[in-house]
Amino acid sequence: MKNRLISLIFFIIISFASALNGQQAVKSATEVILSGYSVRMFAPGTVSDSDIELILKCGIKAPSARNLQPWWFTVVKDQALLKELMPNITEGNILIIISGREDARWAEYDCGLATQNMYIAAQSLGLGAHIYAGPVESINTSKKEVLGIPSGYRAIMVLRIGHIDKNVDAVSAASPRKSIQETVNFK
Ligand SMILES: Cc1cc2nc3c(=O)[nH]c(=O)nc-3n(C[C@H](O)[C@H](O)[C@H](O)COP(=O)(O)O)c2cc1C
Repeated sequence: MKNRLISLIFFIIISFASALNGQQAVKSATEVILSGYSVRMFAPGTVSDSDIELILKCGIKAPSARNLQPWWFTVVKDQALLKELMPNITEGNILIIISGREDARWAEYDCGLATQNMYIAAQSLGLGAHIYAGPVESINTSKKEVLGIPSGYRAIMVLRIGHIDKNVDAVSAASPRKSIQETVNFK
């Protein structure tokens, strides 16, 4: 009886410790921003619909000039389209194309803020993300219709989201930045 009780207590302690270990530590917004980087090596794996919805909500929450919200988000999951837009795509990656209203004065700026919100949101969910301007020209020239981008909008940025390759060391993957001394003045 005593042995059984000891085994039970031991089992509870081990279960509790492994549950804690499995939990993803919650990072503050500043920690997410300062530890973030553009993922260049993704691991295969599906991005869940609930994560995609939360990321989109964070994009839509971005501020915009006169609150015009001059954006349109196209979530691409179709394998053939993904390969066409990004030949080196990893299985399970999604792309979000951020398009802006052509008649809105600050559309590029507003869409940039929405893109950055979603980039940070993806990272805060433990996913990897990368912003691309590269595919935009070809989207606007020949792929708007097949992608369902509404008329009066043009693609401004593409955000790739997927699972992080855990073998990549986040510190060495990060690109260096200029220092405060090189970029700031105080008056
Ligand atoms: C507006 C914008 C356009 C970008 N376009 C591309 C692109 O076409 N291809 C690419 O590989 N990375 C692109 N990037 C990612 C940058 O190269 C990357 O953010 C920068 O080198 C800093 O690296 P880090 O984000 O890993 O710190 C773009 C980033 C921004 C903000």
